[in-house]
Amino acid sequence: MAEDLLIDRSLSKAQQYQALLPQIEALTTGEPDQVANLANAMAALKETFGFFWVGVYAVKGDELVLGPFQGPVACTRIRRGKGVCGAAWAEARTLLVPDVEQFPGHIACSSLSKSEIVVPVLKDGAVVAVLDVDSDQLDDFDDTDQQYLEELGRRMAAWF
Ligand code: SME
Repeated sequence: MAEDLLIDRSLSKAQQYQALLPQIEALTTGEPDQVANLANAMAALKETFGFFWVGVYAVKGDELVLGPFQGPVACTRIRRGKGVCGAAWAEARTLLVPDVEQFPGHIACSSLSKSEIVVPVLKDGAVVAVLDVDSDQLDDFDDTDQQYLEELGRRMAAWF
């Protein structure tokens, strides 16, 4: 497909995710390179929703290591169980954090980050990466984000 994203900001958030996910599928289908696919998926999310920070941390040994992202520079390594990302990995479930200051052990890569959602990417039952989205607004993520980011997470598993 052409490397343009069709974005209609008059649509509801759910409708924008519904329009975006097939476009990410089209952008990545037939491309075997993991970094290329992750990079385009993160750019597509950033371009559609204007997220403050959106990126991937991949499981490498006993740490998460920063992968393709959009936004300010970030911490490169996170240990299992540490911060929201490390907890989502250890617990193998999505963590939706309306106020990061209230999350014990939250890792402040940026003092501007106020709320966060972290979705694990599971392959053959094991967490291989996490998808992390940060907002500079409190309570900026909801069940709609969770539902569609988890759907994206299932697609991302094919790239690992
Ligand atoms: N806040 C995350 C760390 C990653 S950055 O926000 C990009 C955490 O607590 O795991």
